[in-house]
Amino acid sequence: MYKAIVRPILFCFDPEKVHYFTFSLIRTVSKIPGFKSLFRSLYLVEDPRLERELIGLKFKNPVGLAAGFDKNAVLYNELANFGFGFIEIGTVTPKGQVGNPKQRLFRLKDDKGIINRMGFNNEGLEAAITQLKKNKGQLIIGGNIGKNTQTKPEDYTKDYLECFNALHPYVDYFVLNVSCPNVGSHAKLNDKDYLLELISAVQKANRTFAAQKPILLKIAPDLNDGQLDEIVELIAETNLDGVIASNTSTDREDLKTSDERLSEIGNGGLSGLPIKAKSTRVIKYLADKSNKAFPIIGVGGIHSAKDALDKLDAGADLVQVYTGFIYEGPKLIKDINKALLKKAH
Ligand SMILES: Cc1cc2nc3c(=O)[nH]c(=O)nc-3n(C[C@H](O)[C@H](O)[C@H](O)COP(=O)(O)O)c2cc1C
Repeated sequence: MYKAIVRPILFCFDPEKVHYFTFSLIRTVSKIPGFKSLFRSLYLVEDPRLERELIGLKFKNPVGLAAGFDKNAVLYNELANFGFGFIEIGTVTPKGQVGNPKQRLFRLKDDKGIINRMGFNNEGLEAAITQLKKNKGQLIIGGNIGKNTQTKPEDYTKDYLECFNALHPYVDYFVLNVSCPNVGSHAKLNDKDYLLELISAVQKANRTFAAQKPILLKIAPDLNDGQLDEIVELIAETNLDGVIASNTSTDREDLKTSDERLSEIGNGGLSGLPIKAKSTRVIKYLADKSNKAFPIIGVGGIHSAKDALDKLDAGADLVQVYTGFIYEGPKLIKDINKALLKKAH
């Protein structure tokens, strides 16, 4: 029903407007008596064989919603009814910011992809905390954190620390997002020495809390082997809890969408089917090179159960979806969990 009826209607309109419309719709509909249990009966797959223990947390199933969908933590309770095992909110920055000028979100229908240059539009830390206080603790929530666009390079760490310290009581794990192609200052966030400094500072802050929270690093799918080797070294040196591979790509190779259309769209991060192989390659490289020394959350171009299984086979412990959720609908989560159960037989 989603692909035959809902998606063709939604895809007639501006992608960002559709995003907010869908948000309001899910929220409104979830309030109608009976709908919450309807969604749960349609999409939830509950089975102890789907449970995973990782980074000190117990996940009900290994399929999560990737960062950027529920940036302000306003819909995680409702989204949980679609069967996700965990939801990552953010990227949250200390201050709210509007992000880049619109239009900044584009569908590449022929490629089943999206290009976005949202630029960390979010309502800021305080707004996210207000929403997270409504969490009843049923669901694992990741806090994906970043820096404000206007922040000077010498203050990047301060921004991450501000988010980390303030969100600490409200999320189950943290993600240091250092790989968004839409917020400038990419060079510093790709520099191993700086990442070492950033991770150490956040880990130091973590030790000041009675209970420490796991911290993961989210990386780009465009890193070359040398850069991936540095990531492996970085994780070994810092003992970081894991890696999320991957964010969106700046590459535009092998797309069906015309060059003319691509140059009309301009800069931004590419997600969805076109980055599937790239992000799986990164997962496999990290897993092989490190001898599977650290947990990996695999994300990028998962549009079917097989795509998710491929990521897990490549070395991921959990997976996340974003663009696939938009193109394939909520049934994708159920399909992946069902396929995992079939494999577990
Ligand atoms: C519109 C949009 C906004 C996103 N915003 C964020 C974000 O704020 N923080 C982040 O870490 N990743 C963000 N992402 C990246 C996704 O979390 C994910 O890593 C990427 O899209 C690859 O997965 P996919 O192919 O399943 O979409 C965003 C992706 C999209 C499409």
